[in-house]
Amino acid sequence: MKVVDELDLRGKRVFVRVDFNVPLEDDGRGGLRITDDARIRASLPTIRLAAERGAKVVVAAHLGRPKGKPDPKQSLAPTATRLAELLGRPVALAPDCVGPDAETAVARMSPGDVLLLENLRFHAEEEKNDPAFAESLARLADVWVNDAFGAAHRAHASTAGMAPLVAERASGLLMRDEVKHLGRLLAGADRPFVAILGGSKVSDKIGVVEQLLSRVDALLVGGAMAYTFLVAKGVAVGGSRVESDKVDLARETLAAARARGVRVLLPVDHVAARKPEAGSETRICGPGIEDGWLGVDIGPATREAYAKEIATARTVLWNGPMGIFEIPAFAEGTLSVARALAGAKQATTVVGGGDSVAAIGVAGVADRIGHVSTGGGASLEFLEGRTLPGIAALEG
Ligand code: 3PG
Repeated sequence: MKVVDELDLRGKRVFVRVDFNVPLEDDGRGGLRITDDARIRASLPTIRLAAERGAKVVVAAHLGRPKGKPDPKQSLAPTATRLAELLGRPVALAPDCVGPDAETAVARMSPGDVLLLENLRFHAEEEKNDPAFAESLARLADVWVNDAFGAAHRAHASTAGMAPLVAERASGLLMRDEVKHLGRLLAGADRPFVAILGGSKVSDKIGVVEQLLSRVDALLVGGAMAYTFLVAKGVAVGGSRVESDKVDLARETLAAARARGVRVLLPVDHVAARKPEAGSETRICGPGIEDGWLGVDIGPATREAYAKEIATARTVLWNGPMGIFEIPAFAEGTLSVARALAGAKQATTVVGGGDSVAAIGVAGVADRIGHVSTGGGASLEFLEGRTLPGIAALEG
């Protein structure tokens, strides 16, 4: 895989596919405000490098799921403004990502200019990986740079289809780092290797669990998926969220882990609530949960046990919250994992998934984590050992 810094970019139209799929909220003045610009910041090094090397930098991204039609609420206008602020140079927004408007905007560029194309998903052909649409995109480019790790699991026109139609292709710096850090977890991670998986569904994480069982020394489980595992072990979980159709799968996974000598740690105590709502009555209980209560976070003994495992690890992967993290009263378990990772100084630490990444931010420890992945679905599919189309397109 070639990396963008290996190419001569001077005077060339360098099409940089990024993942700027950022969360937005109403700004109260009829506009929209970006609430987390981490994904924009993560691609700044690639965009800066291309601009500084005299490329005409054509940045392309999708936002949301506008269903193939223009939607002002999903315009990249706020993104263009934020990108310009962060880069400290002007960023023009082309009103469309293909066709005469885009072609004219690109034709007017000078070396060092940065242009952002409007939302790729305003055209249904993007997600269909339509060959004619891929050709229209390729008309804007001499070099295709893929820095969109977060969208690399999508075989779309801009993430894959256009690659062979452009003279040169290379990975961006973010893409390179993501592949390096996540790739090490699948080959050559230092041991002990501890994986902490949380979130609501066993089904979302089972592919990763299966892949990791041959690599990790211990698997620490939290979040609602832990209750499905506890049911598989015959522990009472009260009214906790359980995937009944996944209990057998959880039992088989525990047996597979035992056969491989992987220790699986499940919560030994819980924060239980009457309702999964802020302000609900709570209590600490364990190892089981009584009827009338449901688990909303891992309890203090579990936090301590998990922190101990993390403290002695040489590699730690964390994906998924330990409880209902968005409600502050149920966030402590997730935050305690974030702090434990930050304290694991001898370990290589990798964090992926929206809530875990947000917890790293809330705990204020982002600068003490080895690698914080920008990928949600993409990082999970990568860790399942699957070939991601956006990466395969760089290799082909
Ligand atoms: C993401 O936010 O995970 C990526 O940008 C992909 O978005 P999608 O799930 O809408 O394809």
